[in-house]
Amino acid sequence: MNFVSHFTDELRKIPIFIRSRGSARGSEDDSIAMTAFPALGCGVKTKGGFTGKVSLVVVLVLVIAGMTMAQTGVKKKRPLPYEYGRVVLNNFSEKAGISPVVFDHWLHRSKFTCRLCHVDIAFAMKTGSTGIKALDNMKGYYCGTCHNGKMVLQGTRIFESCSKKFQADDIKRCDRCHSLGKNVKREYDFAKFTERFPKERFGNGINWEKTEADGTIKLVDFLEGVSIPRKSLSVQKDFVLSPKLEGHPEIIFSHKKHTVWNGCEPCHPEIFMGVKRGATKYTMVEIIEGRYCGVCHGTVAFPLLDCQRCHTKPVQ
Ligand code: HEC
Ligand code: HEC
Ligand code: HEC
Ligand code: HEC
Ligand code: HEC
Ligand code: HEC
Repeated sequence: MNFVSHFTDELRKIPIFIRSRGSARGSEDDSIAMTAFPALGCGVKTKGGFTGKVSLVVVLVLVIAGMTMAQTGVKKKRPLPYEYGRVVLNNFSEKAGISPVVFDHWLHRSKFTCRLCHVDIAFAMKTGSTGIKALDNMKGYYCGTCHNGKMVLQGTRIFESCSKKFQADDIKRCDRCHSLGKNVKREYDFAKFTERFPKERFGNGINWEKTEADGTIKLVDFLEGVSIPRKSLSVQKDFVLSPKLEGHPEIIFSHKKHTVWNGCEPCHPEIFMGVKRGATKYTMVEIIEGRYCGVCHGTVAFPLLDCQRCHTKPVQ
């Protein structure tokens, strides 16, 4: 099924048609969205004979919402900025009589590259699939790589993770991670911590790209004894992903910008076989389903709602 037919099918399911008015983001953005998708955006004719401009952004939001519902059976509310990128781990916790673990990307990604965790420490890019156990952490793997009570970062000793024997005093420490459903006071307050980070509209509400580029945060990409020294691979040229739809603006994919966070390994060969551009074929629907660019965009990196950040011309 191609995007357009899928898309018009979805449109038909939506009973009340939405006219393109100024959204919360202002009418200027709407007009960008409209001109960005001339092939789909204008004059969509509905059963009722109503012909009007439809904001693709608004409709796609509904499509995305519909898809999450179809997958999970429950309507997910849009996460708040501090919830975006949150991972809840509960393969073993509740069974062992302890609260599930809450892991926040926003805090960790402000300190470390994605690559460090997802390649060197080997966390999977899919919630729950690493199968982290208390014993792994105690032996110094996974969370325990850093949360071992010894590692010092920026003058702070990182608190230890799981242990078999513990005193009443330690329970507070357990609770910092095993916090789901508990009212645990966090040491890092999102609003305060990110106060000075350049802002964006969606996801964490932060422009991570700028935050890193202007030096507001400095990311650790190497841990002694954990990371394997690598020959730095030459960064690939940025290139255009030419869209299949006519009149659809091209996407400039920046290898340089992605490599800052990701290195090469999270994408090649797992997500993109591509050692040759165009070798991997994919569509927007697949991206919305959480594949290809959608592995990260929609979960941790800025979400798919932000159409224009990908579908615009130059990313200088
Ligand atoms: C401190 C370590 C750490 C850092 C840094 C980190 N992650 Fe993760 N990430 C994790 C862990 C842990 C999980 C959960 C893995 C599991 O459950 O098996 C995860 C899960 C994910 C998932 C799956 C989310 C889902 O909803 O299924 C994605 C995608 C992801 N990370 C992308 C990224 C990206 C992109 C970056 C960099 C911007 C990043 N991560 C930085 C540790 C990290
Ligand atoms: C690459 C190193 C690293 C890894 C791996 C890592 N963390 Fe952290 N984490 C940190 C650092 C650094 C801090 C801030 C330390 C501090 O202030 O004590 C932190 C803080 C936290 C906090 C405290 C939040 C608060 O506001 O009180 C939680 C919870 C947490 N990590 C959970 C986890 C979990 C769960 C995992 C494994 C799934 C994990 N971390 C893996 C480095 C790491
Ligand atoms: C830095 C974060 C962190 C801290 C602190 C932490 N844990 Fe864990 N713990 C985890 C993660 C991650 C898992 C795996 C969660 C899952 O999938 O259920 C886990 C799992 C467990 C399990 C489940 C059984 C098993 O074999 O995996 C137990 C029991 C446990 N921890 C006990 C403790 C106790 C007791 C403390 C405090 C002394 C503690 N943990 C502190 C991160 C942490
Ligand atoms: C965020 C994901 C991502 C990261 C990180 C990434 N790439 Fe790519 N790469 C892509 C995509 C997407 C393509 C295009 C694939 C396609 O069209 O099939 C691509 C294509 C390529 C190509 C083929 C280029 C061409 O013109 O034919 C090479 C070579 C390549 N990547 C090497 C690298 C190297 C080396 C690194 C690390 C320095 C890297 N990539 C990091 C996503 C990524
Ligand atoms: C492995 C994870 C990952 C994958 C896969 C990925 N990205 Fe990203 N991307 C990121 C991260 C991390 C950032 C930094 C910004 C953020 O987190 O919001 C980013 C930033 C961007 C930016 C912003 C650059 C800027 O100047 O603002 C664009 C555009 C982008 N990605 C497009 C794409 C496209 C198109 C694809 C698929 C071909 C893709 N990404 C695949 C992780 C990923
Ligand atoms: C993370 C980057 C990214 C974001 C955000 C994004 N797209 Fe895409 N989009 C892509 C990529 C990559 C393609 C495939 C390009 C190609 O044809 O190779 C694509 C393709 C498309 C197509 C062409 C048809 C198809 O299925 O390939 C349409 C229409 C489209 N996107 C609409 C949207 C709309 C509407 C939004 C906002 C709700 C959006 N996109 C957000 C990356 C993105």
